[in-house]
Amino acid sequence: MSFTREFEIVGGDFASAGRVSTEIKAMLRGIGYPPDVIRRTAIASYEAEMNTVMYARRGSVRLGLEPGVIHLVFADEGPGIPDIGLAMQEGFSTATDEMRERGFGAGMGLPNIQRNADRLEITSEVGRGTRLDITVLTDEEAGR
Ligand SMILES: Nc1ncnc2c1ncn2[C@@H]1O[C@H](COP(=O)(O)OP(=O)(O)OP(=O)(O)O)[C@@H](O)[C@H]1O
Ligand SMILES: [Mg+2]
Repeated sequence: MSFTREFEIVGGDFASAGRVSTEIKAMLRGIGYPPDVIRRTAIASYEAEMNTVMYARRGSVRLGLEPGVIHLVFADEGPGIPDIGLAMQEGFSTATDEMRERGFGAGMGLPNIQRNADRLEITSEVGRGTRLDITVLTDEEAGR
């Protein structure tokens, strides 16, 4: 069994923000993944989607399902991340006042993805965009 699906994300569109992650979560529920796997995937997906909405012009996410593995690849066109190590630190944020008024900008999104995913790989090119490769292992024997 192997399955992929792609979704588009529009930068700056706070009205629709979170919809893709909600849809992914519903799909995973329908397939019947364990609740903990759904929860961890949904958190990682939501944080990555919000970052795309907040910082990028546009982006996409490809959901890939294989036996034992959920794979999410977020790729955006945007400013990129100049210092990924810094961006990964809890509390680091370049969110604007407007974003903070909406409740974002705690600088916890990327650390939260790291915590909930079994694997996170970030690549970014300044002035071009950012890619997050997120892996969640779905077998309960995986030990989480
Ligand atoms: N897709 C992206 N493109 C450009 N910069 C990004 C992207 N994702 C994250 N960043 C940068 O990394 C910083 C840290 O991201 P992180 O998600 O951890 O926190 P935040 O989005 O600022 O706040 P929070 O997620 O808690 O609302 C961001 O403030 C931003 O500078
Ligand atoms: Mg964030």
